[in-house]
Amino acid sequence: MPVREFTGFGGVKLVADTFGQEEHPCVLLLPGATQPRQAWHDAAKALAKAGRYAVCVDFRGHGDSERPADGNYQLEAFVADLVAILAQLSSRPAIIGSTFGGWIALTALGEAQSPLATGLVLTNPLEDVSGLSARALDKEVNRQVSENRRKGGFDEALFTGGFDFKDLEYRMTQAAKRLKIPALIVRGGDNALSSAQSTSALAAHIPHVEIVEIEGGGHYVAFERADEFNAKLLEFLEHNVPRDPPEFTSGSDQRTLRDAMGCFATGITVVTTKDPRGQPVGLTANSFSSVSLDPPLVLICLGKSVGSLPAFQKEPAFAVNILHMGQQPLSNLFASKGQDRFATTIWETWDYNVPIISNSLASYECLRRNEVDQGDHIILIGEVVRARFDPRRDPLLYFGGKYRRLHFG
Ligand SMILES: Cc1cc2nc3c(=O)[nH]c(=O)nc-3n(C[C@H](O)[C@H](O)[C@H](O)COP(=O)(O)O)c2cc1C
Repeated sequence: MPVREFTGFGGVKLVADTFGQEEHPCVLLLPGATQPRQAWHDAAKALAKAGRYAVCVDFRGHGDSERPADGNYQLEAFVADLVAILAQLSSRPAIIGSTFGGWIALTALGEAQSPLATGLVLTNPLEDVSGLSARALDKEVNRQVSENRRKGGFDEALFTGGFDFKDLEYRMTQAAKRLKIPALIVRGGDNALSSAQSTSALAAHIPHVEIVEIEGGGHYVAFERADEFNAKLLEFLEHNVPRDPPEFTSGSDQRTLRDAMGCFATGITVVTTKDPRGQPVGLTANSFSSVSLDPPLVLICLGKSVGSLPAFQKEPAFAVNILHMGQQPLSNLFASKGQDRFATTIWETWDYNVPIISNSLASYECLRRNEVDQGDHIILIGEVVRARFDPRRDPLLYFGGKYRRLHFG
């Protein structure tokens, strides 16, 4: 998991872990006060799996982020840090904040002149946040803070710096009214610190918001009820911040084109023939298609750099062997260089003396009928003169650049 550094307000170094590929839509995950960035790792992994680039950052004075020399832990500094991080990301992210992290995000996003993020998910916000400092923290919050303190996970000045909750309450409530992006509020049903009324009162200010309550969840609902929370989070993102599907246009890189073509699921074949010395040759190919029933024609496309292409162009016959599930190692063997592909392969010959891979899902012996030169490939068209097949076996499939198996039901 690559580590990334951001420069926060006043040059404070902020450390983040990243998951997934940077070109994917970004999600920025902010922990609660005193919490380390690792709290979000599981959610970040789920997000990366769902095709997003997740960034888990430590707040100033937390974890590996710098403890500011001036001890500035005021709302102003947290908000400015977040705005600085957003400016350093290559695209606008969706922001997910647990408790304090979400409240900072709501304040920063609502106060900004232009939309700095694509969506906001926050847990347990409350309209009367200024009452929090006076209220007794619940047992679980005390336990977590002590645990984070024991690990030296945060700067004590965070508590002694006189954070102004009244200021947060005012600014967060004002900011809520100006939030233009879709928001999701997740409330822990057993959360003692923010009441359902106070959460709804704050939500009432936000123009586009949805509230969900997770039963049994507390102040740390995102982590205590991680599976339910992550499911809600992914659903919200898919719905409100859909991933832009990748696009190929003329001139785009070949990788994008391959990915686009990889959306067509295929079987896998090993195509074979013999070279002028009578030695068996062949390669893995999925560019196989049936062309005509009468006469029975099929085609395969061979890259012009394929070593055995001259043999396929010279020999009057070739064979197409359709692979079954158990033949994945064979597919790898016939697609990798520098190995004797036939030394460990069981094969036989039929009527035209070209190698037929024994016990394949199907094998077609073909006579070469035509050859079409197109781009960087040669299309070989063959007439099937003999076929043996065993459709009771499961095929080896290929989709999205990976081997797949049939899945019924
Ligand atoms: C799943 C899969 C499908 C492939 N399909 C084709 C294909 O249709 N045509 C082609 O020329 N190469 C295809 N290849 C690549 C060749 O198998 C690979 O480049 C092989 O090494 C070429 O043979 P050579 O080493 O004798 O040149 C495919 C590879 C894989 C893994």
